[in-house]
Amino acid sequence: MRDLYDDIASVLIDEDRLQARIQELAQEIEDDYQDVDNLLLLCVLKGAIMFLGNLSLLIKRPHVLDFMAVSSYGSGTSSSGAVKIVLDLKTDISDKHVLIVEDIIDSGHTLDYLRRTLLARKPETLRICTLLNKPSRREIDVQVDYIGFDIPDKFVVGYGLDFDEQYRNLPFIGVLKDAVFMN
Ligand code: IMP
Ligand code: MG
Repeated sequence: MRDLYDDIASVLIDEDRLQARIQELAQEIEDDYQDVDNLLLLCVLKGAIMFLGNLSLLIKRPHVLDFMAVSSYGSGTSSSGAVKIVLDLKTDISDKHVLIVEDIIDSGHTLDYLRRTLLARKPETLRICTLLNKPSRREIDVQVDYIGFDIPDKFVVGYGLDFDEQYRNLPFIGVLKDAVFMN
């Protein structure tokens, strides 16, 4: 049987650091939205699912959840810039304060597209919260309101993030061994 852990070169962010930082983000969000009754956390599937679940449990204020899935054309480990909606929201966001919850911002194309698409639906406010940010890879400027961790230009997996749909269930953020990409 294949062992997931054998494919990991190093742990970049362990469970304790993840948990501590997500608790801080939840506190910041709680403070910033303390006068808001209609907060919607918008999870960008699938990568943000663990982060969304964890964050939502730690925000001790009323809010609702909804989900969107987008795919970037092109394959492999980087996105090409062309984005399409695979699954859309069920919620009318015109009376909502929307906080997009994303796993990672790399080139910025996905979030730039999402931001423009959602703004056209006229939410009360729209902000972005990402667990991970790779500033050195940015191709398009996106304003990000909450960032968990800035990370170096390395392909990471775990805690929701995948390579070829695998490794999402690792409870930490890890760097894959080069050999895995060559298979
Ligand atoms: P962007 O459009 O280039 O900003 O890419 C955003 C999407 O690419 C993320 O939502 C992830 O799905 C994927 N992605 C970018 N970097 C990584 C990584 O290091 N590991 C796993 N997925 C990544
Ligand atoms: Mg993603």
